[in-house]
Amino acid sequence: MPTHRLVIVRHGESTWNQENRFCGWFDAELSDKGREEAQNGAQAIKEAGMEFDICYTSVLKRAIRTLWTILDGVDQMWVPVVRTWRLNERHYGGLTGLNKAETAAKHGEEQVKIWRRSFDIPPPPMDENHPYYTVISKERRYAGLKPGEMPTCESLKDTIARALPFWNEQIAPQIKAGKRVLIAAHGNSLRGIVKHLEDSKEATNKEATCTQQEYLKFSVMACSGYERASLEVKSVKKSPGTGTGTGTGTGTGTGTGTGMSNEAIMELNLPTGIPIVYELDEQLKPTKPMQFLGDEETVRKAMEAVAAQGKAK
Ligand code: 3PG
Repeated sequence: MPTHRLVIVRHGESTWNQENRFCGWFDAELSDKGREEAQNGAQAIKEAGMEFDICYTSVLKRAIRTLWTILDGVDQMWVPVVRTWRLNERHYGGLTGLNKAETAAKHGEEQVKIWRRSFDIPPPPMDENHPYYTVISKERRYAGLKPGEMPTCESLKDTIARALPFWNEQIAPQIKAGKRVLIAAHGNSLRGIVKHLEDSKEATNKEATCTQQEYLKFSVMACSGYERASLEVKSVKKSPGTGTGTGTGTGTGTGTGTGMSNEAIMELNLPTGIPIVYELDEQLKPTKPMQFLGDEETVRKAMEAVAAQGKAK
């Protein structure tokens, strides 16, 4: 039985998402479409009747404004909000500001996918001559960072490493204390949290252990009436040579499995503005696959659109 519920939401489309530019720690505003996405996210949460006790976000306005829009839309603007740089988007280093499709045309789509989605390969660092170095690295909001904490670029692994202390020290204790938490953050800081949650699952599913298959299953909660459709997005072999085929492990998911491999996390593209619900046990292990508050077609298209940003035009 789930004990806790966590809601996470990636900010709505930003102006730099719209222009298809690597954004990272650049403080881009929401686009008009992004504001609408945030309003739709609020509506989905309202229809699901969810209430929150505490919210967390980054120090970047696209996430903060998404959170404000959601809290406004559900008439819970009074709920305490904690902002932290530890929930910022991953630092895109020297790629910051570049167009993703042009970068793919120049360096190849494979290389761009590695920079965008690999677990532990960071993009090139941002040096002092980079056009966005001063507006990011010398920004007043980061004055309190300790020496060595200000990144020049980050892999997903680095992003998880700086987000986890905050998760462990601030967010997890609140959830365990029964607080209903909403996190509005970014594609990659949330992928880090998703990986952390998925990795906390025990290998209790015999099939998963035997076949070494990992199945990312996402249930989609239709906004009206919680109708569920099972949507199997991706099936990834955990280690080469040990898989025994496909076709097993389908269904609605039971919250068991072997965690999320570094290969599996590469295929996860979080859509903008669509709230994601996790049900967790006392140890904060997911008891079900993540559930999107959105209709299946919209979620699928939004995920595919994020993945396609790194294709050369
Ligand atoms: C960015 O920082 O450019 C986006 O918010 C996330 O980008 P990605 O989907 O390319 O990782």
